[in-house]
Amino acid sequence: MNSLNKNFASELVEVFDENALTGYKGFKLGNFLFSRDEYFAKITWTAKGQEHSHLMSVDAFLRAIMRDVAWGFFYGWVNFDHVIGTQNHYGSVDMYAGTFNGVLSAAGVDYVENFETPKIMATFKAILHDWVNEGFDPFAAPEETGSAFGRKNGSNVDAIDRYRISTKRMPGLNGDSPLRDDLPVNRHFHDVPQDEPLVHCERGFEGELSAFNVFKYMSRSDVTWNPSVTSVCKESLFCPTTEEYILPIIHGNDRVEWFLQFSDEITWDISDKNDGSPLARIIMKPGDICAMPANIRHQGYSTKRSLLLVWENATPDLPEKYASGELPPYPVNF
Ligand code: PHB
Ligand code: FE
Repeated sequence: MNSLNKNFASELVEVFDENALTGYKGFKLGNFLFSRDEYFAKITWTAKGQEHSHLMSVDAFLRAIMRDVAWGFFYGWVNFDHVIGTQNHYGSVDMYAGTFNGVLSAAGVDYVENFETPKIMATFKAILHDWVNEGFDPFAAPEETGSAFGRKNGSNVDAIDRYRISTKRMPGLNGDSPLRDDLPVNRHFHDVPQDEPLVHCERGFEGELSAFNVFKYMSRSDVTWNPSVTSVCKESLFCPTTEEYILPIIHGNDRVEWFLQFSDEITWDISDKNDGSPLARIIMKPGDICAMPANIRHQGYSTKRSLLLVWENATPDLPEKYASGELPPYPVNF
């Protein structure tokens, strides 16, 4: 595995402080300051000539920023919580505080700043590199990892350097990304069958057709809330993932996406994309399918590890079509 040291452009990162007591560095990204102590991440900005700050429990902050980095800022909005987050403009990224919080934006104390993607990516990676202690894995379920808290204590480069695996061709064929079936079956998935399908190929098509047990693949995932792009068919991406505890970000959509619940249960809180006011609560049981409209934000809760398929549409001009109203925010007119 590459070391994260070699993996980000350190010349783009601005360090403003190293706390003598806790050992953690502080980081400056434009007019935002990021610092952490033993329990909290603190984000500071200036609006209306006054300094404002926001605290997040540092475990939640690290889980959120880990997703933002691993997913390359994802589709649309990645809210770390109800105050701070990022909006992807696919080439540049907005970092905001309060802009998509109804109360803070109405009070005019919100702040948003745009960054070239490499700059914000390098800064976020540097934060992870400095703030994730040995034994804490921001991708792992809380029951399966050590603590994020306390004073600086080593690092966990292997955990934070684990990027989303994408398929390169039909999974299982020579040249595709490895399926990682060397990982152990998760403690919650001992009932998931591990047998592989038999493939009988028409003569002449050997090496061009493949099949694999996607449930076996998912049952061995060592990460949570981290979809892997397992099949690509034109702009249609199937992204299976295993979920436990809370989706560490509140995702604001810039397109419709679909969820197919394969096992167990996930509760979704749905809120208005722009101001965060609550709209709906959805309980998905095995076999349920639901579409997340393009004008909402959503966060999932999974009491035990569950199997979920996220179906994404990677068509490049979708955000403009939804933003302009050319497409309605929901996929089906009943
Ligand atoms: C989502 O934002 O739609 C999302 C992200 C990660 C997951 C599941 C869903 O693991
Ligand atoms: Fe989403």
